[in-house]
Amino acid sequence: DDLDLGGYRHYMYKEIQEQPECLERMIRGRLDDRFGVSRLDGLNLTPRDLRGFARVKILGCGSAYYAGQIGATMIEDLARVPADAEAASEFRYRNPIIEADTLYIAVSQSGETADTAFAVEEVKRKGGRVVGLVNVVGSTIARACDGGLYLHAGPEIAVASTKALTNMAVGFAMIALALGRVRDLSNADGQRIVAALRALPKQVAAIVEAEARIAEHAKICADARSLFFIGRVRGFPVAREGAQKFKEISYRHAEAYQTSELKHGPLALIDEELPTVAIVPSDDLADRNLAAMQQIKARKGQVLAITHDDVDFGDLDVPRFVVPRSEPELDPILLTIPLQLLAYHAALILGHDIDKPRNLAKSVTVE
Ligand code: G6P
Repeated sequence: DDLDLGGYRHYMYKEIQEQPECLERMIRGRLDDRFGVSRLDGLNLTPRDLRGFARVKILGCGSAYYAGQIGATMIEDLARVPADAEAASEFRYRNPIIEADTLYIAVSQSGETADTAFAVEEVKRKGGRVVGLVNVVGSTIARACDGGLYLHAGPEIAVASTKALTNMAVGFAMIALALGRVRDLSNADGQRIVAALRALPKQVAAIVEAEARIAEHAKICADARSLFFIGRVRGFPVAREGAQKFKEISYRHAEAYQTSELKHGPLALIDEELPTVAIVPSDDLADRNLAAMQQIKARKGQVLAITHDDVDFGDLDVPRFVVPRSEPELDPILLTIPLQLLAYHAALILGHDIDKPRNLAKSVTVE
């Protein structure tokens, strides 16, 4: 009810604002600064178990699936264990091969999504080990898993997931640390990641406070019939989640592409009427991302870059929203935050029912 809104106009907005404290709860008691590792007792996995996994398969739906893609990249980056995310809605119907040396991770805000719950049952029936990354305590998926980590994001009411997704990404970072530190990840690298995780709440607060600077760009996006969100490698799941959030509440067609794939097809669609939101972190792909933005500009496309302050745009004249840098492996967590605000402000301009978008349910518990 309105009381829970605590003076905010929308749950989505309130939940965006709450993220710094949600992050604090997510990491509390779970990080070891001295050994640069996470302590995740709830997973019920011994160091020996953790060392034994040859692969990681992450299962979720909607935003949880995109969080899983962010997580898979973190696990490959930090633990060098092959990892991928798959839509649980597909996995359950395709007679998947379940392997004893794969760690399955089910990710769900509600813990009640039927597709994800079914996927968990299927993994278990065939002898796989599955842990949960779930927000709602005691939910169906949380109970079905062999162990897990609760997200501690508090109740998420808005259909479009924000604070739960952010905590999911942090959960994956902590699982990546746990897998990495029983393998090749050095103590120094572990400490680097632990310190970066501890810095996240303040960094997220800084992004949320800079809301007005991202809201400026919402009008262009709201006016467009269709938008692209582009990113590559670590930035691509960020782009996917950005497009998902945007289409859920603005009802605009938004599509995510790997920046590298633009020239293989989608570039044909670029003109003055199709704006692009580009994820451009300060990494060794920055130059290639700049070249892609140049190509979009040359075709009269408008671009908004979500980027870091040390990316040199040279004479490329595109509006930018700068987020604080984390460690490169964790940058996706911070890069997603402005996209929440962009979608929110576009939906506000369009006058949509932000918390309850048409045709969608907060959790899909039936077939
Ligand atoms: C629904 C919602 C999405 C959500 C997905 C997964 O489709 O509309 O916003 O991401 O379910 O929900 P879960 O509770 O499993 O994270």
